Parts: sequence; C-alpha cells; structure tokens
Amino acid sequence: ANTLAAAAQQSGRYFGTAIASGRLGDQTYTTIANREFDMITAENEMKIDATEPNRGQFNFSAGDRVYNWAVQNGKRVRGHTLAWHSQQPGWMQSLSGGSLRQAMIDHINGVVGHYRGKIYAWDVVNEAYADGNSGGRRDSNLQRTGNDWIEVAFRTARAADPSAKLCYNDYNIDNWSWAKTQGVYNMVRDFKQRGVPIDCVGLQSHFNGNSPYNSNYRTTIQSFAALGVDVQITELDIQGGSATTYANVVNDCLAVPRCTGITVWGVRDSDSWLGAGASALLFDGNGNKKAAYNSVLNAL
Ligand code: XIL
Repeated sequence: ANTLAAAAQQSGRYFGTAIASGRLGDQTYTTIANREFDMITAENEMKIDATEPNRGQFNFSAGDRVYNWAVQNGKRVRGHTLAWHSQQPGWMQSLSGGSLRQAMIDHINGVVGHYRGKIYAWDVVNEAYADGNSGGRRDSNLQRTGNDWIEVAFRTARAADPSAKLCYNDYNIDNWSWAKTQGVYNMVRDFKQRGVPIDCVGLQSHFNGNSPYNSNYRTTIQSFAALGVDVQITELDIQGGSATTYANVVNDCLAVPRCTGITVWGVRDSDSWLGAGASALLFDGNGNKKAAYNSVLNAL
C-alpha cells in the first residue's frame, strides 16, 4: 500500500485526519487529505458553538461542508463533539441546572438527528474527567447538573441515531498508570455493567513533554477493549514528530483487534492547532512527507 488509508485497510482499519472547513480551498491540503485519509473529523465545525450558536437555532453550514467533502470523496466521518465544557456558545455557558440539562439533551437531538445514519462514531462526551490524581470528574457547568449527565448524553444519542457508534473521548487517558485513565476505565466498566449505551473510547493521544507516549499504551488499549468497547485513536499528534513514537502508536493499535482506527489531528504541521513549530504531524508545511509519515506507513 502506498497511502495511509490503503495501508490501514489491509487490517480492516481506517486512517483519518481532522479537516478544517476554512482550508478546503487550499489545493495542496485537499490533495493530501483526499489521497491519504479515509476517515474525517471536523476540527471545529460540529462542536456546540458552531452547530447551535443561538439556543434552538441550529447551523450546519460549516459542518455540512466538511461532511459533504468527506462523503463526496468516499470517506467516512467521525462526529465531534456533542457534550463538552469547552467551545460552548455563550448562551449555554450561562445556563445551569435543569435548563442546562435540557439544553444538552436538545442539542444532542438536534445535531445527531441532522446527521442521523451518516456518522461512523460520535464523540458523545468529551474531556469530562479531571487531570491530576483524583481520578474523578472535571468540574464544569455540565457536571454540576448531576453526575448522571454523561449517561443521559449517551442514552439521548443512542435514541437519536441507533446506527452511530457512541464514544467517550478524552486526553491524558493514554497512560495506564494515571488516575485519570483509571477513572474513565471505571466509568466505562460501570456503563457496560448497567447497560448504558457506549461503544467506544477515544484516546485523543496528544503527546508532548508533559504527557509523553508511554510503553503501557498498549495495555491501556487492551484494557479498554477487554471491557467490550472499540478503541479509536482520535486526535493523534506528537510534539517533535518522533518517527519512532509514531510507529509505537501504530504498532500498539494493530496489536489489539478492537483498536479500529487512528486519526491524526491535522494534515500538515502548518495546519496543527499546536502551531507549525511543534512539528507534530506527518506532513511538513510544504506538504512533503516527513520521516514520521514513512514510519507510520511501514508500521501499518
Ligand atoms: C482544537 C482545535 O484543533 C482548535 O482549532 C480549536 O481552536 C480548539 O480545539 N481536544 C479536542 C479537540 O477534543 O476538539 C481540540 O481541537 C483539541 C483538544
């Protein structure tokens, strides 16, 4: 195989990227994205502030631009994201209690309903756990509506689109020895035991000096998979762009049958949310393949 997507398909997996609607007019960008990737995540366009800028008024224009580009080019789409403390529109930030809970439910129904039957997997809830040693939930306006907000979000999403896989997505849950990882693991185990509909865990996998790749990553993937959920690497980038670390990530996913695919969080270094200087992606600012690209392709 000579593209990332074709190489991933050899083992029944996908290889994706985040796409920014504002870059779809850049031909270097779209040429690489179309050639190399077969799963697309909208980098910002399906988030809460983009899709429901005013309460009850949905706007899918940018989300649909990314969705339509993907599908017209034969790719599948991951939906990102429905319930999150960040990138909330102002009206939602100022809500609390029962009205916020209802707004979350209405939001999920509106967005999942619009894309019903069209999304491979939704990141239903994003980043709900706290960093540090507590292993507990992050404080947020959503968390303050009651601890059951996460399962309510999943049940709402399931009813709105029974065909989409439903994921919990977070960062710093890659390292098996971290309390945050164990907190999310315990939640997923509890959900599976009680029949709360969850199908997958998304490991964002933004690796940097403070949160480096650890060799127990494979244990993390295996442990989540053993609970009966798929695992997807959803937002991979590696500060410094180590080819060895990229290969380790791919090898760890390939070692676990239920690790179903890998998405990198952008196309070229110049497209990265971390800035070009982070050198975190697989193509340089000119669109040339980096050493990390060849390393990933060989590992797949
Ligand atoms: C980032 C986008 O890449 C940026 O363009 C935006 O300004 C902020 O959000 N975790 C996530 C993603 O789940 O949605 C974030 O994306 C990166 C961290």
